[in-house]
Amino acid sequence: MDGPVRRVRVLGASGYDVVVGAGALAELGREARRFSRERTAVIISKTVHDLHGARILPQLGECDTRAFVMPDGEEYKSLDFARDAFEWMLGAGLGRKSAVVGVGGGVVGDFSGFLAALFMRGLPVIHVPTTLLAMVDSSVGGKVAVNISAGKNIVGAFHQPSLVVADVSLLATLPEEEIRNGLTEAVKHALIGEKSLLEMLERTAPGEVRKPDVLDAMVYGSVRFKGDVVGRDEHEHGMRAILNFGHTVGHALESLSAYRGISHGQAVALGMKAELKISHNLGMLPAGECREAMDLVDKFALAGTRVRFDTAEIVRHMRFDKKNSGGSIRPVLLEGIGKPVYDIPVEEAVLEEAMTGLWA
Ligand code: NAD
Ligand code: GLY
Repeated sequence: MDGPVRRVRVLGASGYDVVVGAGALAELGREARRFSRERTAVIISKTVHDLHGARILPQLGECDTRAFVMPDGEEYKSLDFARDAFEWMLGAGLGRKSAVVGVGGGVVGDFSGFLAALFMRGLPVIHVPTTLLAMVDSSVGGKVAVNISAGKNIVGAFHQPSLVVADVSLLATLPEEEIRNGLTEAVKHALIGEKSLLEMLERTAPGEVRKPDVLDAMVYGSVRFKGDVVGRDEHEHGMRAILNFGHTVGHALESLSAYRGISHGQAVALGMKAELKISHNLGMLPAGECREAMDLVDKFALAGTRVRFDTAEIVRHMRFDKKNSGGSIRPVLLEGIGKPVYDIPVEEAVLEEAMTGLWA
């Protein structure tokens, strides 16, 4: 059943609305017309097209649309595939007054945003996220990118959407593992400052995370929190870096695994535990808060995978993270739950010691 639909404004008067709730799709129909005065490209994931296309696409009935059904998989978020999509857009009759609508998870969101950022020097993009991760994180904030063989998200831009429509009823078909990937980012937001989300997640039993009201609160709290951070530091000159909590260690684990056998969510969850322990070992995070934060990650079994790499190897990979600066490793640390600090160099020996035995 549809509940109340809420709106979060990101980047103020010149920014955009994120519409959150079961039933938010109805707003897509009402609003999309405003952003496209010519033909609209709908970039939609194949899985989502098959599961939900019949519900989503008619919402755009008032727009003159052409659909590009995208195969699933990170490998399609590529510069090569973007070239094919640009050719398709031209052939489909898109012009300078067109718009792009991206319907799917973070892969489709990043890809469709990238197309919109570059085609004819920039078209408006509307995101219709359909995974929990895309709703709580990737659809908000304007980071768009594709991968090249040298690395993930290397070629990209900041291109804020014109509208985001996050209808949580679409999550009913999402596999368990994808729910956990999104939940990890919501837990991250809770630990770095979204107090109401922290309280809600601490009250929630693991078996309750798929309940519509829990999903709705998770998405709304995350969007409000991330939207506020993006509003303060749109282009990540400073404090937006707090959103990378768990990601410095997490990226090293993903890259060491060659992105196989460990999900992004698991890697970030392990990374958050490591960065909590580092914060504690440096005397910044009191033991009680460190335990409370670790317990939240463990309660939802977010970090449930074995790490088979030795800590020196992980640290070596952390050196290559594109978020490092000044030649030193700077994971996001916590001075308390809700009190992240960034840009603090940490000695490699401290990193190694904190990770030793942590995930055994
Ligand atoms: P994804 O887009 O690959 O989606 C995961 C799977 O779920 C896919 O197979 C998809 O088809 C399926 N799916 C999507 N919606 C569904 C639904 N409602 N029901 C059933 N299945 C559904 O993965 P993701 O985790 O959503 O996104 C990961 C991507 O997001 C990565 O490329 C990452 O780099 C990017 N990302 C970007 C940002 C940003 O700020 N731009 C932030 C975080 C992650
Ligand atoms: N996902 C981190 C950011 O958007 O900055």
